[in-house]
Amino acid sequence: MSLERTLTVRVERISRQTPEILAFELAHPWGRPLPSYEAGAHIDVHMPGGFSRQYSLARAPLATNAGRYVIGVKRELSSRGGSASMHERVREGDLLPISAPRNTFPLREEATHHLLLAGGIGMTPLLAMAQALAARGAQFTLCVFARSEEHLAFADALRAPSLAPHLRLHLDQGDASQRIDLHSLLAGRAPGTHLYVCGPGGFMQAVREAAAKTDWPEDALHAEYFAAPTDAGATAGLPFTLKLAKRGITVPVAADQTAVDALHEVGIDIPVSCQQGLCGTCVVEGDGEGAEHRDFCLTGSERRHKVALCCSRAKGLELELQL
Ligand code: FES
Repeated sequence: MSLERTLTVRVERISRQTPEILAFELAHPWGRPLPSYEAGAHIDVHMPGGFSRQYSLARAPLATNAGRYVIGVKRELSSRGGSASMHERVREGDLLPISAPRNTFPLREEATHHLLLAGGIGMTPLLAMAQALAARGAQFTLCVFARSEEHLAFADALRAPSLAPHLRLHLDQGDASQRIDLHSLLAGRAPGTHLYVCGPGGFMQAVREAAAKTDWPEDALHAEYFAAPTDAGATAGLPFTLKLAKRGITVPVAADQTAVDALHEVGIDIPVSCQQGLCGTCVVEGDGEGAEHRDFCLTGSERRHKVALCCSRAKGLELELQL
């Protein structure tokens, strides 16, 4: 397992956002600022019951935040217990261990316009990104898709004067005239526009299909998944060998083993978090062309020289890594 540093935070405030979503404001127990982060970052939360889940930070790191974090937790009926633990067992004043923030979903500096598409609770990283973009006077559009006004989380933040002019709201149960047609939205991309998307599986699939039909460039599409798509492949496969270029050694990976498990077995610590190819924590530099990529976090160009070790395998008998 990862030896990453754990922080302890106090649950400062819990506020209901929708019938299914609670917002948790987390602060340093002694009032110090929590470590800084960039919009798009997430933390691991270690919660009662032994569960650990990743949550995006739902607020841009602005001076007014005083070093606190905000996360949104949707109670998932199908969850393995993580969201239920947060909703039922965590109270204001409790202490929670968390990881330091990591950002595998950053804003792209090269973009001249940012198109942010948020489905439901997927709004959390995109809300932070929108606030960060507004603060720097960047060009952006934030499209938020929700079932109804009642299911719209962080509504006050979305309607703040700094974001309101950039916001397009699509409510499934709202007036038909306000609904957003994904194909029309993505067609006619202006050069330099980057697309960021986060939401439930069906929403992600719909955006990806619309992007494919409108020839959206792969390298200008950035997605953050909550869970691996249901048709995702297994992590097992044929055995292969990891060639560690910097150490000058090889490490065998068994058919039923992941590359990261094989490395941990020989004492090489690679941080891991989601173990589903979603978060990017286990990504290392390597011969991406020689990898069978099974992640959901790397772009097409990143896959040429990076590999997510919790799920991806070698295409052939050997995979070289810069380790
Ligand atoms: S641990 Fe999350 S992508 Fe590998």
